[in-house]
Amino acid sequence: MTQRFGITTMAAVHSFVCFILVLAMAVLIPTSSGLLTPDYYNKTCPGALDAVRSIVKQRIENEARYGASLLRLHFHDCFVNGCDGSVLLADTPTFTGEQSADPNRKSLRAFNVVAEIKAFLNFFCGANVVSCADILAIAARDSINLLGGPWYEVLLGRLDSLTASFDAANQDLPSSFSNFAGLLANFKSHGLDLQDLVALSGAHTIGLAKCTLFRPRIYGDTDINSSFAAGLQKVCPIDHGGSHRSPLDATTNTFDTVYYAELMQQKGLLHSDQELFSGGNNQSAALVALYSNNQTAFWEAFAASMIKMGNLPPASSNGQVRLNCSVVNT
Ligand code: HEM
Ligand SMILES: *[C@@H]1O[C@H](CO)[C@@H](O)[C@H](O)[C@H]1NC(C)=O
Ligand SMILES: *[C@@H]1O[C@H](CO)[C@@H](O)[C@H](O)[C@H]1NC(C)=O
Ligand SMILES: *[C@@H]1O[C@H](CO)[C@@H](O)[C@H](O)[C@H]1NC(C)=O
Ligand SMILES: *[C@@H]1O[C@H](CO)[C@@H](O)[C@H](O)[C@H]1NC(C)=O
Ligand SMILES: *[C@@H]1O[C@H](CO)[C@@H](O)[C@H](O)[C@H]1NC(C)=O
Repeated sequence: MTQRFGITTMAAVHSFVCFILVLAMAVLIPTSSGLLTPDYYNKTCPGALDAVRSIVKQRIENEARYGASLLRLHFHDCFVNGCDGSVLLADTPTFTGEQSADPNRKSLRAFNVVAEIKAFLNFFCGANVVSCADILAIAARDSINLLGGPWYEVLLGRLDSLTASFDAANQDLPSSFSNFAGLLANFKSHGLDLQDLVALSGAHTIGLAKCTLFRPRIYGDTDINSSFAAGLQKVCPIDHGGSHRSPLDATTNTFDTVYYAELMQQKGLLHSDQELFSGGNNQSAALVALYSNNQTAFWEAFAASMIKMGNLPPASSNGQVRLNCSVVNT
């Protein structure tokens, strides 16, 4: 009897210990489940979100393009092994990360703004509280909103990766030379669908692109307005000026529906942009038409797709909160 009681007690103690272990694990590595929450920093740093917004606001007031560049950083982070801050890891003599991959090299920018936000949060919340991957998600949300776009509740609790992948950055990001099928296949490989593709491409309502990335379109494509092409050919000559930049839509500092309206007039800057309307997919063309004249429909779809993109899970469950976004903690 005592024997049986003892075994039962031991079993109870054992399951209790297991229960506590599971609880402790849930507390210690909260993002291992992959579930993000809007309240993640409520206790550890209640002022974090306001602080990020105020730094982003100052930088955008100084140079609106920072908003576009911050949004693109979050996208290039999430499409390469999930939203894990991997894009922020700088190359070293012994490590080649994502920043030197083709879609990123001499193209991504605003790393200085991320560093400024991180330095402030390390001081304000204590070091190693707010992850760099979350900083990108918050800064992207605020950039969109500060440039006149929607506001949505940003989900938080990402961890920063311990590494980055040059090869994945070359393979997993979409190309502006792709046709519609290639773009859709790329988005599907990330678990995103046609509506996400059309809505998220609306990010090109802000920011710039360089000549090399639209040159084949303005000299070769047939689905382009001829006076629009002629104007761009002045900015982007056929044999030089590859780094000259042009706005992705006519209202480059405003998060509006002009990007879509221009696609309907064959005035998409990138080949990939124009494919959404002229690439032969009815559903995509219909969404472009809808978003071009219904800002509410665009904003709702865009916000929902941003949250989906922001949920792309990291390749590895091993993570940390980096002290310096450019380097793994030592
Ligand atoms: C659909 C496939 C996409 C392709 C092929 C594509 C391609 C490009 C290219 C070639 C540039 C110009 C880069 C340069 O000149 O160095 C660019 C800029 C930009 N992209 Fe995309 N992109 C895509 C989707 C997205 C998505 C999903 C987002 C965000 C949600 C985004 C946000 C931006 C922004 C904001 C800029 C301007 C950045 C700046 O001015 O610094 N793009 N994109
Ligand atoms: C977290 O903070 C936000 C902003 O102050 C607030 O709206 C929200 O209700 C808080 N959530 C929880 C669970 O306390
Ligand atoms: C091209 O754009 C110009 C300027 O907006 C416009 O006047 C012209 O009608 C357009 N051409 C065609 C073929 O749509
Ligand atoms: C879809 O596009 C084809 C041409 O590619 C057209 O013939 C057809 O009417 C379109 N269908 C719808 C439902 O718009
Ligand atoms: C615009 O889209 C919203 C959201 O989908 C919808 O509720 C509204 O009825 C649309 N407006 C028009 C004028 O179609
Ligand atoms: C963060 O790391 C980068 C790359 O090693 C370095 O250049 C930078 O000075 C560091 N920032 C801080 C605040 O220490």
